Amino acid sequence: LLVDKGNHRHFMAKEIHEQPEVISHTLSNYLDMANGRVSIPDLGIDLATVPRVTISACGTAYYAGLVGKYWIERYARVPVEIDIASELRYREAPLPEGGLALFVSQSGETADTLATLRYARANGQRIASIVNVRTSTIARESDAVLPTLAGPEIGVASTKAFTCQLSALACLAIALGRARGAISEEQEQELVSALIEVPRLISTMLVDETPYVELAHLLSKARDVLYLGRGLSYPLALEGALKLKEISYIHAEGYAAGELKHGPIALIDEAVPVIVVAPEDDLLEKTISNVQEVAARGGQIVLISNADPEKIGCELAAHIKIPDAHPLTYPLISAVPVQLLAYHTAVLMGTDVDQPRNLAKSVTVE
Ligand code: G6P
Repeated sequence: LLVDKGNHRHFMAKEIHEQPEVISHTLSNYLDMANGRVSIPDLGIDLATVPRVTISACGTAYYAGLVGKYWIERYARVPVEIDIASELRYREAPLPEGGLALFVSQSGETADTLATLRYARANGQRIASIVNVRTSTIARESDAVLPTLAGPEIGVASTKAFTCQLSALACLAIALGRARGAISEEQEQELVSALIEVPRLISTMLVDETPYVELAHLLSKARDVLYLGRGLSYPLALEGALKLKEISYIHAEGYAAGELKHGPIALIDEAVPVIVVAPEDDLLEKTISNVQEVAARGGQIVLISNADPEKIGCELAAHIKIPDAHPLTYPLISAVPVQLLAYHTAVLMGTDVDQPRNLAKSVTVE
């Protein structure tokens, strides 16, 4: 299989730019666009009565799963447990009879994720997986597969696989919500229309990357970078920090905005950039109060939001404007700025963006 970089300098850049197209492919696999309905493969389990969903994965796929948990809880009202595969498999977690275990993996070969899948099977779970490589071991050992149609991902730092995983997870959450009567047919149509808009909205964010090139100068001088987010944006803060540390080698931490005062606030001074993922949703006000706490200590705030910066009421080092969207879709929308921030910082620093030191695309050993 031969994949080239096209007009891009790195595979990562190419893969970031492919997102509108591959998200669209993935969504069209799970949506009946004409009727505004979701249709996912038969999981061989009664979605209306499944007692719990247990999600497990590693790395970026784990953060996609964490967004999935928030979506499934919100739109389907099903309890969801999530854990990193290397933890879940060893802590002998009790799993409910008739439960659904869901594994998220780009490669479908991650050793800990596969071992956790086998643990879940041995403990009576129905196994579903969201995988990018259809022929992988995890796909073969699953009762049902929800493929992501991201195409081959070459850059070690996952980008398009992540947003395709989110696309599949959103469809699963809506399908579960419908099966359980937690959302009406009208609500389903509204959510489906929102998802259909995503590729176009992401395209608008890929037109001009100069703000990221400028911000790379700020980030590349930092020793530590803090990412904050609340609710659906919390996993995006974690993913943003992971992307930055993976490819620029700058220490970065993602934190739930509400936890700021329980630790990370001690780190904040003029030298610490704080990236705040805060789209205009029902939690924005709460996050703004955290932003003000950062500002009061001189932190350099980079706000990723569609909200009017006037609303924030303090000075910002930068404002990365995202488009207005349906609250369901902000994790997909916010993924792009955090990817581009990491990418341009790494390019400026001259690291090996596609093959960062010490990291592997697929971790098949324990
Ligand atoms: C490695 C890769 C990450 C990936 C993780 C899980 O750490 O570098 O990009 O998120 O493995 O891989 P998987 O193939 O299971 O999604």
